[in-house]
Amino acid sequence: MSLWQNLVNSRTPRSTLSPNGGSSITVPSLSSSSSSSSSSSSSSTTTTLFPAANSPQRASNSLTSDRQGRGRNKVRLEPGHSPLDWAVLKSSGTNLRNIDPRDFPMKVTREELKKHKSQDDCWTVIKGKVYNITPYLKFHPGGVPELMKCAGIDGTALFNKYHAWVNAERILDTCFIGFYVQ
Ligand code: HEM
Repeated sequence: MSLWQNLVNSRTPRSTLSPNGGSSITVPSLSSSSSSSSSSSSSSTTTTLFPAANSPQRASNSLTSDRQGRGRNKVRLEPGHSPLDWAVLKSSGTNLRNIDPRDFPMKVTREELKKHKSQDDCWTVIKGKVYNITPYLKFHPGGVPELMKCAGIDGTALFNKYHAWVNAERILDTCFIGFYVQ
């Protein structure tokens, strides 16, 4: 028996693992208002949902509200555009900068920057660094239209307004083109 099954069996009153390998786990309902944690007789109400419907682990919850219950503007990404897919694309060796490697790193002026503001040729500046965000557009958890707001301009202020904590330097490392010169 695996460690996981061991844990499940020891923590839940009943657990059924289907013979074909898929798991259907029966767990006590989390909606019970009982404050007793030791009682084992309170497990008469059960649900087959795991995690519970109101769990913060559910994607639909994190899409619509954060832990404080504030509204969120995350979008549902198209299949094949998860953060993991982005990591795979980044490590694939594809030239995501879409510039001549001999020009790297570029010195990008405001005039040059504003020439790249379409969905198939989109540059922006975050904290002094210029990125080709064209390949990232469909991977952006905030959606394409939001990200396009910083197309061809310095996006630092908008970026900080929505998520100053996000590590753009890391996410966009392979899209880094050069430095913004004003
Ligand atoms: C160009 C660099 C950017 C990167 C790498 C980036 C990356 C991200 C990431 C990783 C998230 C998910 C955050 C989370 O789960 O907490 C996110 C969410 C979001 N982003 Fe961006 N973003 C960028 C620029 C922008 C800009 C310029 C805007 C606005 C004009 C924007 C608007 C949003 C919004 C509205 C969300 C959803 C916020 C929420 O979770 O409530 N992002 N972005």
